Amino acid sequence: MTTINVGLLGLGTVGSGVAKILIEEAELLTLKLGHSLNLAKICARNLQAKRNFTPPPELLTTNPDDIVGNPDIPVVVELMGGLEPARTLVLRALAAGQHVVTANKALLATHGQEIFQKAVEMGREIQFEAAVAGAIPVIRALKEGLTANQIQSVFGILNGTTNHILTRMTQDGMTFHAALTEAQQSGYAEADPTNDVEGYDAAHKLALLTALAYGSLPKITDFHVEGVTRLEPDDFTSAAEFGYVIKLLAVSTMSPLDGRLEIRLHPAMLPSGSLMAGVNGVMNAVLIRGHACGDIFLSGAGAGMMPTASAVMGDIIETSRDLQPGGAPQVPALGWKSLRTWPIKPQDDVKLAYFLRFTVIDKPGVLAAISGVLGKHNISIAQVIQKGFDASRGGVALVILTHEAREKDLLTALAEAEKLDALTAPTRLIRVENRL
Ligand SMILES: NC(=O)c1ccc[n+]([C@@H]2O[C@H](COP(=O)([O-])OP(=O)(O)OC[C@H]3O[C@@H](n4cnc5c(N)ncnc54)[C@H](OP(=O)(O)O)[C@@H]3O)[C@@H](O)[C@H]2O)c1
Repeated sequence: MTTINVGLLGLGTVGSGVAKILIEEAELLTLKLGHSLNLAKICARNLQAKRNFTPPPELLTTNPDDIVGNPDIPVVVELMGGLEPARTLVLRALAAGQHVVTANKALLATHGQEIFQKAVEMGREIQFEAAVAGAIPVIRALKEGLTANQIQSVFGILNGTTNHILTRMTQDGMTFHAALTEAQQSGYAEADPTNDVEGYDAAHKLALLTALAYGSLPKITDFHVEGVTRLEPDDFTSAAEFGYVIKLLAVSTMSPLDGRLEIRLHPAMLPSGSLMAGVNGVMNAVLIRGHACGDIFLSGAGAGMMPTASAVMGDIIETSRDLQPGGAPQVPALGWKSLRTWPIKPQDDVKLAYFLRFTVIDKPGVLAAISGVLGKHNISIAQVIQKGFDASRGGVALVILTHEAREKDLLTALAEAEKLDALTAPTRLIRVENRL
């Protein structure tokens, strides 16, 4: 029976989970695989640090070169996080002929072209199931089971921290800051939450999902990325009145007629009866819409020691199977033999329905003035609700749901409406996604 040596770069949250499974489940894995996986070396910075799992001390090193470039270790698992030294170490491992597994979405979304290229050049694998939606095997679904499909759309809730915050705002009427503070106290948000709450983490995952679905890896600066920091409790109340729930939604879609990718990450109102709207707390979900498979909905834990380790282990196992004599031929890392670059639709050209909340003085003719401005720019109104006086904003709220409109037209109309004397506070806008 063969044994495949595995080297771990990183023994933090995820690395500890992977080490725990490799050591504690060794027998089960051998029974399932018919070969064994041996955790040969683990690299961390501080060998004295208290860990979630304590591996045998002789496995530990502070020198990544004990793993990277070591001819006895064919599989390198990068779980350090960050761009450097992760990028250099991954490239060096591939150059040395080692196969790489990583959970590092920031690394792949930023330096993916270079890393995937190096893997192809060296004929080595780079696997990254844990980089998108944690435990959910969405990458394997896209690049294997659903390969035959023209992917029409991918929708996702890809960040557990923000989903937890939005769930508290929805269910308990909390402010963003109160929900964030609570999430930090309970360990669901980091001390510096910028990467999560501004949407960058989810955007990195969306870029990778786009590459898997359409074979084109965009930069996160190429599409609209908007976090959750500006959402207010009133937005959630109004959403409920219209039959919607607010989520931080990732969307990647391409219409064959248009030939352009539509990629965006922003808070969106979703129909409250949709599967996505029911994804609460730290859970993640992905909905893949394919021309043959229809809608495939996957949901599960998006982060955490053991759920993420589960996804990393899936990659280690697949790589080890491919390394067996007569092992299966490799599936390309992104499921495409070669990548191409599709044009991305500017956000101005996106067509959606919109939720608008105007704050206006309470006098006759104001609704007519606002609907006149909207109408002039081809924005038609689907529903209107007028609220009572809001002392904090010095006016009454006029809440409008539009029919589908081009974003540029909507923004032009809003800029014109802002000039009306009747408005007493800035107008709020939330996009509405009715295709779920
Ligand atoms: N946490 C999650 O739930 C989750 C979910 C999905 C994906 N991911 C991804 O998984 C990766 C790891 O995340 P994590 O949460 O496990 O991170 P983490 O807890 O911060 O662990 C990072 C580990 O890497 C080690 N390390 C960092 N820089 C090093 C260096 N220069 N030399 C040697 N060791 C170094 C650290 O060593 P010390 O411990 O000695 O400092 C630590 O053990 C990231 O890319 C993250 O985005 C995480």
